Amino acid sequence: MTQKSLHILTLIWTASIENLRKTTVFWRLRPISFGNMERQVSKAVLATNFENFGLQPIRYEGGNGFFGNGMLVTDGPQWKKSRTLIKPTFDIAHIANLDRLGPFVDRFMELLPRDGSTVDLFPLLKRMALDISTEFIFGRSTGALSSQDGGKDFMDAFQAALRDVVIPDPSQRSEEDYKGCQEVWDYIDARIDEAVARTAKSNDEPLTTKKQVRIIDELVRSSDDKTTLRFLVISLFMPAHDNLAVAVGNAFFHLARKPEAWTKLRAEVVSKVDQPLTHEVLTSHKYLTWVLKETFRLTPLNSGTLRECLSTTVLPVGGGVDGQSPPLVEKGELIETHFRIQLRDKSYWGDDANEFCPERWETMRPTWEYIPFLGGPRICPAMKLVYAECQYFIVRIVREFSGSENRDPVRSWNGWKRGG
Ligand code: HEM
Repeated sequence: MTQKSLHILTLIWTASIENLRKTTVFWRLRPISFGNMERQVSKAVLATNFENFGLQPIRYEGGNGFFGNGMLVTDGPQWKKSRTLIKPTFDIAHIANLDRLGPFVDRFMELLPRDGSTVDLFPLLKRMALDISTEFIFGRSTGALSSQDGGKDFMDAFQAALRDVVIPDPSQRSEEDYKGCQEVWDYIDARIDEAVARTAKSNDEPLTTKKQVRIIDELVRSSDDKTTLRFLVISLFMPAHDNLAVAVGNAFFHLARKPEAWTKLRAEVVSKVDQPLTHEVLTSHKYLTWVLKETFRLTPLNSGTLRECLSTTVLPVGGGVDGQSPPLVEKGELIETHFRIQLRDKSYWGDDANEFCPERWETMRPTWEYIPFLGGPRICPAMKLVYAECQYFIVRIVREFSGSENRDPVRSWNGWKRGG
């Protein structure tokens, strides 16, 4: 099935699920697949019965040519090993790494016009996100903010490698794909060697007191299996390279279209303008946290996630004529949890579910209705880091600029396009 027809099928499916009950059986690519937007089913699949649902059968065959045995394409002990290796760094990175953001944001601010002329933020945000993520993950920034060409060769190779990654039959992949994979691997292997040399020279200070953490340095201290490290590093870079840019870009998209939200945010930010941007100060910005939560609700970065049943399971609800009986999901069947629909479900969020309304977070306390970063053992390990980086960046911008004006002819959100 081509990308286009898959997309059309997803659109039809999504359009119909809004009018259907929350867990529905669809005849799709395999004998049976379930579409889900019911919180009890999300919890059952992603947490309670975690071991019974995996992604390796769906992702490994196509993905391993580039991602190897990395955590984005594996389940079970191999996935667990990766998760254990990265955990200590992600436990503290959102606090330890705030100071290192300063120079990147300074450079970003220098590139903004101050004469009232129009600026497209997204290309600049992408360059900043690339610099921040490469420094954290590879131990060395690509310098994309300093020069238009910074990181270009590497990103061209990365995009070439990704282009064919979903094609399961290796003989069908293009020359460029193989060349791109090799270039990315060579680049990352060189960064691993640098990290080994760097950490051999420095004292192994406890992670908890570090003022800056580079995940690659912590990984080479924990494992000397360089192939596993290479694939782990790629699995981190894949979501990191532009997610910050898309998240912050989405927040400004909404704020530019809702001046009253900008005004409230600015008042909050200005009231703390003399305080240093520590973790405590950033998280004390209540309205800012609502803006971010609302941005991830209305415009989540992932539209959903697909799992294959590894062991026959009875789900709590979703079966029977009324959708209230427990359905049997058999080994090999697929279940897709659709965040984007769940996050705009009017029966939970109210009639204004399609509106950007940070104030709703004053009273809303969702659990499995709100999983833009997933939930359960595979929850995004970078969630706190993402919040910290978004908070830091937005506060710096809002401290300096008293307003923002939408000059984009596109006024409303085209929910099917990820920034790009
Ligand atoms: C706005 C930013 C981000 C959002 C909304 C987000 C969301 C998510 C979601 C929904 C998943 C689960 C995907 C699935 O299983 O189908 C995920 C997994 C993951 N994310 Fe993020 N992510 C963000 C940024 C990042 C960043 C910056 C990093 C790395 C520095 C990162 C690293 C990962 C990794 C390694 C996984 C796989 C976890 C596992 O399978 O155990 N993410 N993320």
